[in-house]
Amino acid sequence: MSVEPESLPEFCRNYQDYQQLLQHQCQTLEVPEPEQIAIESSFQLAQKIAELIHFKSKIPFSEFMQQALYSPGLGYYSGGSHKLGAGGDFVTAPEISPMFGKTLAKSIQQAWQDTDNCVLELGAGSGKLMVDILQQCQSGGCLPKTYYILEVSAELRQRQKQRLSEVLPQLKSKVVWLDSLPKSFHGVVVANEVVDAIPVELLMQTEQGLAQGFVTHNEQGFKLEFEPSSFSQGWRKRHKETCQQWPEGYLAESCELRRDWLKSLLESIEQGCVLLIDYGFEEDELYSPYRPQGSLQCYYRQKKHSMPLALLGLQDITSSVNFTRLAEEALGAGASVMGLPTQAQFLTLSGIEQFVAQPQDSDTMSSLSVAQQLQTLLMPNEMGQNIKVLGLSKGFSGALSGFTSLGLNQV
Ligand SMILES: C[S@@+](CC[C@H](N)C(=O)[O-])C[C@H]1O[C@@H](n2cnc3c(N)ncnc32)[C@H](O)[C@@H]1O
Repeated sequence: MSVEPESLPEFCRNYQDYQQLLQHQCQTLEVPEPEQIAIESSFQLAQKIAELIHFKSKIPFSEFMQQALYSPGLGYYSGGSHKLGAGGDFVTAPEISPMFGKTLAKSIQQAWQDTDNCVLELGAGSGKLMVDILQQCQSGGCLPKTYYILEVSAELRQRQKQRLSEVLPQLKSKVVWLDSLPKSFHGVVVANEVVDAIPVELLMQTEQGLAQGFVTHNEQGFKLEFEPSSFSQGWRKRHKETCQQWPEGYLAESCELRRDWLKSLLESIEQGCVLLIDYGFEEDELYSPYRPQGSLQCYYRQKKHSMPLALLGLQDITSSVNFTRLAEEALGAGASVMGLPTQAQFLTLSGIEQFVAQPQDSDTMSSLSVAQQLQTLLMPNEMGQNIKVLGLSKGFSGALSGFTSLGLNQV
């Protein structure tokens, strides 16, 4: 059902008004203005979201984030923006160094001693991790039976196929793209920086108690409003002790959609292990009174900021993963927790040093020296400590070096 144009707010009726709104956001954020084609796509997405708000009067923040990132053809991940790598909005570990994927490949091969030699990569981005893992497996003479990819973005799926054709054309038949989670998967699941891209709800401690974040609009733009809801009241009851410590104005995210996602993933696995690699914390640290701003972050052309309603469909929106809740969900679903090392611990214990002397590839971040690559992957103030690896397993009796004697505090 579409809405009469006059029922939409002014900034969604007139393209010039929308263009000015984006220009103003870029000035505030001190970032370059998007190209015309990107502004047009953002305008269409703004109209789509304004229509949703017209029918519902407001939408939960998670629904806004879902649209902003994944609306078909218009969302950040589904549309045509460059996204990952040196010329994009943000960089991930595989884009920084092939040593990341090679070390992961070693860990995957170790797991194959106790499960089928298949890989399922979730959210494969530019396809860089896939080619690094496959190259390493090939050079060790131990290729997977099948390397499955489940990618929600049609645009990124296309890029992954192209990269495979260019870099490893001889292995094209090994990679299979799935449209949904497999049934009864046996093997190793890998997801690098995927969970932090799954939508969250926003919560704020207010005078009236814990309130939920909703997106609505006025004539000039979208805005965020917080009001107590059955969701926030239920959340507060379940997390009484945590909320009691929060001062007024405290902001946090809640991860129900991520738990649902993990539950479905674990249901689809019959036997094997899962490596979830992401920015995040255990719950007491994530919700500590010393983190009053929450962890929601946006990325546009390598600039990090906290304005999720800006640059609609043109910027990444992420928030830190609550590893405690994911681990609890996993235990409830009959899986085991192998550990939660930091990325530095995981890569070091898995033997990243073996790859230091090997030739580096000529890909995206090749301007970085090997020492700079290692520093970014391993140093505590960079990805080394901020990113963690949650290892889960189901019906799997093997052990992976990356998890040696490391566990979660609370679960
Ligand atoms: C931040 S990017 C990370 C890309 C890549 N893993 C890397 O490390 O460079 C997030 C990726 O997850 C994908 N994604 C998000 N939600 C997903 C889901 N529910 N299932 C599969 N892929 C998903 C996005 O389309 C994108 O490819």
